[in-house]
Amino acid sequence: MNATNTQLKQHPVAPREAEQTELHPQLNRAHVRFIGLGKTYRGDQGPVDALQGIDLAIRHGEVFGIIGRSGAGKSSLIRTINRLEQPTSGRVLIDQVDIGTFDEDRLVQLRRRVGMIFQHFNLMSAKTVWQNVELPLKVAGVPKEQRQRKVRELLELVGLQGKHEAYPAQLSGGQKQRVGIARALVHDPQILLCDEATSALDPETTQSILSLLREINQRLGLTIVLITHEMAVIREVCDRVVVLEQGRIVEQGPVWEVFGNPQHEVSRTLLAPLQHALPDELHKRLRPQPTSADAATVLRLHFTGRSGDEPDLAALFSALGGRVRLLHGGIESIQGHGLGQLLLAVSGSSLGAEQLRNRAGDWAQRVEVLGYVV
Ligand SMILES: Nc1ncnc2c1ncn2[C@@H]1O[C@H](COP(=O)(O)OP(=O)(O)O)[C@@H](O)[C@H]1O
Ligand SMILES: [Mg+2]
Repeated sequence: MNATNTQLKQHPVAPREAEQTELHPQLNRAHVRFIGLGKTYRGDQGPVDALQGIDLAIRHGEVFGIIGRSGAGKSSLIRTINRLEQPTSGRVLIDQVDIGTFDEDRLVQLRRRVGMIFQHFNLMSAKTVWQNVELPLKVAGVPKEQRQRKVRELLELVGLQGKHEAYPAQLSGGQKQRVGIARALVHDPQILLCDEATSALDPETTQSILSLLREINQRLGLTIVLITHEMAVIREVCDRVVVLEQGRIVEQGPVWEVFGNPQHEVSRTLLAPLQHALPDELHKRLRPQPTSADAATVLRLHFTGRSGDEPDLAALFSALGGRVRLLHGGIESIQGHGLGQLLLAVSGSSLGAEQLRNRAGDWAQRVEVLGYVV
């Protein structure tokens, strides 16, 4: 379905929170900061600009989401935080310290402060759950007693206390990712990077891993940076989100704001799966142009607001004039903000589609004319 004729509400919109921080002293307390970051790969068919001019601040203790189409540069970006990827230009600061200057020793320390989990878990198949988690501690020369205490504690945290002796092949996907999470936490990191960590899991398991990540974020106070192509994951756990496209930032802000009123085409496309689908029967009857004089105009209204600010439907309907039928609708809550959608069919109004859209714009942040039905 193509969402045509989108119009943004005309009244002045306050700058987004994330944009304001650009001018804000709070920036100095950012946990991770990217300044003019660029990454160019030497590909087989010439150079590939994977990241360009990235300026971004991630705060202490937040769950920060990165979204974008495949190839947008998400993995390249997240991997500069532990320097698995070396930027071509610009800087990455962690707690105001430029990590680009680190020698081998400090890199090892950095990677202990920044844990990472992966889509395919990256576990050692010939080692048990216990050994997989213990290995990085062994490598770091941690004494045996301390290691045992740590591994036991972490396996309990991730709910694998009964699986110490199991091998990865004997575990479900969700259990494997729990091992991955325990292993990522062995050095008490301050930052946890998650690159598509739930993409190989079914929805139910995804839920349980997300709850675990949220719990870890709250209990241990870690900052979590999370890449996913599942928008429901972002909606569920992230505080703020950035949208990348072709290596650049196209949009960023609190999740409720970006999800409630996405400004960029790419964000809208990515978020489309979260939209209420048109009822099938209606979808089949929808036409791009009115086919007769009595055709009804189908509008989709998007509104966001704190509860209590929901639109006054009687006033909206009377402003549109004619006969207004409610086809579909709902409100959900993200971070204490109501995000609503209303699908309306307006017939017999003296107003044309453009005027209807303008009128409805007084009640909604964004109005789309989806088409016409007879
Ligand atoms: N090691 C590499 N060598 C060459 N090109 C790469 C390499 N890694 C990534 N790229 C390219 O950089 C771009 C961004 O990739 P990536 O960061 O993996 O995107 P995403 O994670 O959003 O899918 C893509 O065009 C990809 O093909
Ligand atoms: Mg990737």
